[in-house]
Amino acid sequence: MNTVISVEELRHTISTWRNNAERIAFVPTMGNLHNGHLALIDAAKKQADRTVASIFVNPLQFGEGEDFETYPRTLDEDSSQLASRGVDLLFAPPVEVMYPQAQQLQTRVEVPDVSHILDGEFRPGFFVGVATVVCKLFNMVQPDLAVFGEKDFQQLYIIRRMVEDLQMPIEIVASPTVREPDGLAMSSRNNYLDAQQRQSAPLIHRALQQVADAIKRGEANYTQLESEAAATLEHAGFVVDYFTVRNVNTLNPAKAGESNLVILTAARLGQTRLIDNIIISQ
Ligand code: PAJ
Repeated sequence: MNTVISVEELRHTISTWRNNAERIAFVPTMGNLHNGHLALIDAAKKQADRTVASIFVNPLQFGEGEDFETYPRTLDEDSSQLASRGVDLLFAPPVEVMYPQAQQLQTRVEVPDVSHILDGEFRPGFFVGVATVVCKLFNMVQPDLAVFGEKDFQQLYIIRRMVEDLQMPIEIVASPTVREPDGLAMSSRNNYLDAQQRQSAPLIHRALQQVADAIKRGEANYTQLESEAAATLEHAGFVVDYFTVRNVNTLNPAKAGESNLVILTAARLGQTRLIDNIIISQ
């Protein structure tokens, strides 16, 4: 696997492949890779001749008081995992390559409305930071397809909207959430949990599953299901930012009788914020 840190080297390598009409897949990450990320690599490799991964902890998507400084940076381990998984090229740019101007001067990409609900409400500026960096990475790599995890459902939704609105010729592929054996969605932030918090953490998935089961049985009072689930989590020591049943196609609050739903939650255990979701297609 080749690792590059400049846009010139990246473009040079990719242009050789493109000239040979090879199909190029792209998997953007912030590193500290786990099996959730590696599943995206496998999905990418299945659909392309060449796979490009990126590792960049994007300062633009971290708010005041969030964990930009302490976010785990494990480039050596990450590179060997990507190499053994068969990635062709790793792009690991320093901040000055991604943001040569002061960050306040950076042109931004904003997908309106959906960037300011759910996680966007609790993390102002987060999705503008994500859309901006992903747009820049897409312009640099110019992949045929890019793979994103369903674990970050709202992010996936926003990237699809950006690609559609900006008419980018890139296919967005969704990859299912990879979980620990006890149901906890894999995340780089799980490492922040202490032993007791780690024991409570799978309750998030269990609560989502219980609401999904209730809806599948025909229960349609979503507001009640949401508040009961949130109360269960709060009782177990979580601070719940939201627990909500939404229409999978619009992210609007679901109405009784609608099919194709997604149940989304974000909850904090101490300083650690965990997100998860379940998609129900009926
Ligand atoms: P990061 O959190 O590193 O995640 C990179 C990709 O891995 C995302 O598409 C995310 O949804 C996916 N992923 C993470 N955990 C997963 C799991 N348990 N199962 C399946 N997929 C999982 O998301 C970002 O980085 C950044 O916002 C980024 C898109 C790279 C822009 O900076």
